[in-house]
Amino acid sequence: MKIIRVKDEIEGGQEALALFKDQVKQGAHVFGLATGSTPNTTYQALCQSDLDFSEAISINLDEYVGLSHNDPQSYYSYMVEHLFKQKPFKHSYLPDGTNEDADEECQRYSRIIAQNPVDFQLLGIGRNGHIGFNEPGSPFDGTTRKIKLTESTLNANARFFANEADVPRYAYSMGIGEIMQAKTILLEAYGMNKADAIQKTIEGPVTPNVPASILQKHPNVYFILDEEAASKLSK
Ligand code: F6R
Repeated sequence: MKIIRVKDEIEGGQEALALFKDQVKQGAHVFGLATGSTPNTTYQALCQSDLDFSEAISINLDEYVGLSHNDPQSYYSYMVEHLFKQKPFKHSYLPDGTNEDADEECQRYSRIIAQNPVDFQLLGIGRNGHIGFNEPGSPFDGTTRKIKLTESTLNANARFFANEADVPRYAYSMGIGEIMQAKTILLEAYGMNKADAIQKTIEGPVTPNVPASILQKHPNVYFILDEEAASKLSK
């Protein structure tokens, strides 16, 4: 486990860009991507870089159930806006939130992940320690599932919607077992409201109550943390 401490998320984005460049140099071809506010500065840095993803594949962690790709609140729209518009990939995969047959959609997405093993996986972390939308209690060997979002996640996501009632209650998310298959993982966390989750993830017991704690068992994981997110670590 390597911890990179940064002053703020701008510097974090530059460190993440350096890791992306290194991965590309090593031949990485499949990139696991995240949404939310955390990767914003990373995507900005990628957009301003000379990296070319036109022969690469991206696979996103999750999508809200019920939202179509055209919906401005969908994670698909987020990715177009923040990255794909400027840096298109050869193929970009996200779960299809409009597929009402959850079993079919989850099996379809798991097949995509199995056929395109992720070289480099980017992660954020929820205040409750979730990765993807694998909320506390999710199985460590899980594959893509329809997940009921917890109150904590709904509250955190409400900032992106005009009304709290509009926040989707369910998401399709890659499972922890699939996330752990990535050859290299980078988790970024910024701000005080991530400090508890980061302390438990890095220094606490490995437990499904803190889904990200399983990363302690991954052979190749980086954390980029600002001072606040790292403030509760003992070292
Ligand atoms: C998003 C995702 C989530 C977020 C997490 C943190 O694709 O998988 O795990 O990374 O909820 O969200 P932000 O970055 O908005 O604090």
